[in-house]
Amino acid sequence: MQPGSGARAASPLAPAWLALPRDLNELEPKMWAHDVERTPSGELAVGGVSVEHLAHEFGTPLFVMSEDDFRARARAFKEAFDAAFADVCGGVDVYYAGKSFLCSAVAAWVAEEGLRLDTCSGGELAVAAKAGLPGELLSLHGNNKSDSEIERALDLGVGRIVVDSLDELERVAAIAAARASQDPQHRELRAKVMLRLTPGVHAHTHEFIATAHEDQKFGLSMAPGTASAEFRAEVAGESGEAAAGAVSAAEEAVAAAAGHDSIELLGLHCHIGSQIFESEGFELAASKLLTFLAAMRSAYGVALPELDLGGGYGIAYTPVDTPRPPQQIAQAMAAVVRSTSAELGITPPRISIEPGRAIVGSTTFTLYRAGVTKDVVVDLPGPGEESSETTAVRRYLSVDGGMSDNARPVLYDADYSVVLASRASDAAPQLTRVVGKHCESGDIVVRDAYLPDDAGRGDLLAVPGTGAYCWALSSNYNYLGRPGVVAVRHGSARWIVRGETEQDLLSRDMGV
Ligand SMILES: Cc1ncc(COP(=O)(O)O)c(C=O)c1O
Repeated sequence: MQPGSGARAASPLAPAWLALPRDLNELEPKMWAHDVERTPSGELAVGGVSVEHLAHEFGTPLFVMSEDDFRARARAFKEAFDAAFADVCGGVDVYYAGKSFLCSAVAAWVAEEGLRLDTCSGGELAVAAKAGLPGELLSLHGNNKSDSEIERALDLGVGRIVVDSLDELERVAAIAAARASQDPQHRELRAKVMLRLTPGVHAHTHEFIATAHEDQKFGLSMAPGTASAEFRAEVAGESGEAAAGAVSAAEEAVAAAAGHDSIELLGLHCHIGSQIFESEGFELAASKLLTFLAAMRSAYGVALPELDLGGGYGIAYTPVDTPRPPQQIAQAMAAVVRSTSAELGITPPRISIEPGRAIVGSTTFTLYRAGVTKDVVVDLPGPGEESSETTAVRRYLSVDGGMSDNARPVLYDADYSVVLASRASDAAPQLTRVVGKHCESGDIVVRDAYLPDDAGRGDLLAVPGTGAYCWALSSNYNYLGRPGVVAVRHGSARWIVRGETEQDLLSRDMGV
């Protein structure tokens, strides 16, 4: 087929959600940083810097992040939640989830915009320390923290350790107690702790499900009967068999924390899932945790002044994704915290949240250079109502990265979108699968997208929405260097994480 000669018709191979675009050169605003645009020449630019300039200066593949967009999204969360919760608990502490993407520049921006930082390993704590963030702005997560990670968190004076299990609670208590007894400087040390609970609410995109038991590795179960045999025996002795049968692992942890002088129990935490668009799941989790919090306050005389409702707010990867603005989510959650606290007759706890993807995801696109094109004739299941065709062409367009810089399509079947970035084109739309250069047939970057029929070797392609869980999950599969991340602001671009060189790749090879 000659460039531009394809028919402007939907491909029978396209998934139902993928509409034929009106104009392939248009950018869907919800998927891009606010300062990405097509210049009059047709090329994409971010913050006034053109993609050809970026590719020339920094190479491809390349993560391109708009610093202003990151800062604006971080501020938007903080302002929206502060406003919605002002009358409930005086505002909200927003912890940016560093697991989505972290480097010291981003950690610094987070603090400058009035947010805090959620880490989940010693390595992420090291990045925060490199950025000079004060310990009280940090929290430490993880279902299997090592003793040295706990030690490091205490060294840094983190604002809170989010404890995931009874095993960990006892280790944190013992490590803090040992410090207090051995070091006169730490005599008053009490480890600040939150307990991560599993409320039996799972949310994923448009659905949420509520179950009694959580079949997963994270957190302390709130389901009745999940406490240890020892704790149940203790409760049976004091309050009878029926009460013992109802106690949960979460309650056992509250009781244990309350009994340790070396622990300051700040409150409760939950995280119900990721890429969530509806607020019902968050609302149900909030009301379950508040009810439990009220019960624990009266049963154990603990103050539990804080409640963290986790992250998980969804973003647009494709035109059919419908994220809601932070104001809407915040108002819906504030309404539930306000009314449930009033019903329970309790002072609302200070609320915190942990958004990652919703802050960083859409700030970034990945820039690839296109290479080989291959058209494959695919048999159709049977002639459709509108066409008697029995075959259709699927185009494979290979780029110079792949599953090593974006594992999400392989890991989660995640869908992405793509545009021709180095120029505009009037060619007809061609259903295209953008694939990587790895030795895996599942190495897909964008499963289904319409690209101009003349897009091919030498063109730059841009895949939006790659700010979260792409660089963070990247690998060196097939000895590809991990791409670097460039931040663009005020018309100039700089590495915030440089790309790996061949020398980096060989630096840990100990030789023959
Ligand atoms: C405990 C916790 N908090 C926050 C997040 C951030 O989630 P998201 O990036 O979807 O907002 C995660 C993600 O897995 C998480 O496990």
